[in-house]
Amino acid sequence: EKGGFEHFMLKEIYEQPKSIGDCMRGRLNVGTSHIQLGGLINHLDKLSKAKRIIFVACGTSWHAGLVGEYLFEELARINVEVEYASEFRYRNPIIKEGDFVIAISQSGETADTMAALELAKQRGATILGICNVVGSSISRLTEAGVYTHAGPEIGVASTKAFTAQVTVLAMIAIATAKQKGTITDDVYRRLLSELAAIPTKIEDILADVDEIKDIAKLFTFASNFIFLGRGINFPVALEGALKLKEISYIHAEGYPAAEMKHGPIALIDEDMPVVFIATKDSTYDKVVSNIQEVKARKGRVIAVINKGDETLKSMVDFAIEIPESHEMVSPLLTSVPLQLLSYYIAVLRGRNVDQPRNLAKSVTVE
Ligand code: F6R
Repeated sequence: EKGGFEHFMLKEIYEQPKSIGDCMRGRLNVGTSHIQLGGLINHLDKLSKAKRIIFVACGTSWHAGLVGEYLFEELARINVEVEYASEFRYRNPIIKEGDFVIAISQSGETADTMAALELAKQRGATILGICNVVGSSISRLTEAGVYTHAGPEIGVASTKAFTAQVTVLAMIAIATAKQKGTITDDVYRRLLSELAAIPTKIEDILADVDEIKDIAKLFTFASNFIFLGRGINFPVALEGALKLKEISYIHAEGYPAAEMKHGPIALIDEDMPVVFIATKDSTYDKVVSNIQEVKARKGRVIAVINKGDETLKSMVDFAIEIPESHEMVSPLLTSVPLQLLSYYIAVLRGRNVDQPRNLAKSVTVE
C-alpha cells in the first residue's frame, strides 16, 4: 500500500508530479490556451467582479491560502484576506455584498473551517470550497468549488494536498485574471505553460535528493531552525517550518526574510540553521542581502536556489538546486525540498513520521 516507500509521507511526496498532473487534467490545456474549472463555470464571472476574497483555513491549508493571496492580488487584482478559521469565526467579521469566502481544506471536515463558512454564509457572502475529499462536509456546504483531486492523503503531515491546493488556486487566479482582463494574453499563455511544466520539474527535484539527505544528516540534532522567504515564497517558509516541527519535533519558525532584523536575528549564532528560499524572482536581490546578514552573524545557511546560480552557491553553506520557474508558480517547486528535508530529519530522529504524536489527520473538534 506504501508502493515500496518506507512511509506514506515519502510516497505522497513522490506522488506530486502525478497528483498535480491529476489536478490539472481536463482543466488546463496549453495547446488550446484554455482553463476550464467545471465547478466554477457559473461563478467565474461573479468572482472576477468580487470586491474581496477571504480565504478561511487552518494549518497547511492556511499557508496555501497565503500563496493564494499573492496569486489573486498580483494576477486578478482582487483584494484578498487570509484568515485562520478559528479566529475569523469568533470575531464579528465584516462581510459585504460582493465578498467571496473560500474555504481551503484537505479533509473537508475541519470543524473551525466549517463553522467559519457557515457564519460567512449567514452574513451573505458567496461561499466556495477547495477540498480534496470528494463529498466531504465542506464540499457539500459550499455553493460551488474545485476539488484538488490529489488522491487520498494518509500521512498526517500534508504534502501532496498542499501542492494540489496551490495548483487549484493558481488555476482559479489565472482564469479569473483572464476573465477580468488584468493579464495580457502573453502572460496568460506563459502562466499556463509554466503551470503545465511543474510536474516534470518536480520529477527533476525528486530524482536527486542526495544533497537534502546530507543536510538532514548534518542537522539531525539541531534544536532550532529558522525558515525565511519573501513574496510568494514567504508562505513556503511558514510551511517548511510547520512540516519540520510537526514530524521531527524540532522547534522551527518561519518568517518573512525582511522581518528577521526585527527580532529573530537575535537567535542567530553558529549553531542556528537558517533555511532560505532564494530562487530568482522579484525579491532575489533582497533575499541575497538577508543571506549576507545571516552569514555575517555566523548562521549556517541552507538555501533553495535555482540551478546554475553560482553566486549564491558560493555564498551559502548548503545549496539545494531546483529548476527555474515563473515566480507565481514557484511555491510548487520550492515547497518540495523542504518537505523532503523535514522527512529525512524526522526519520533520522526515529520519529513516527506518518503519525506524529498529538496530531490527527482531520481536526473535527473545535
Ligand atoms: C499540517 C496539517 C494540518 C492541516 C490542518 C487543516 O501538515 O496537516 O495543519 O493542514 O489541520 O486540515 P484540512 O486541510 O483538512 O482542513
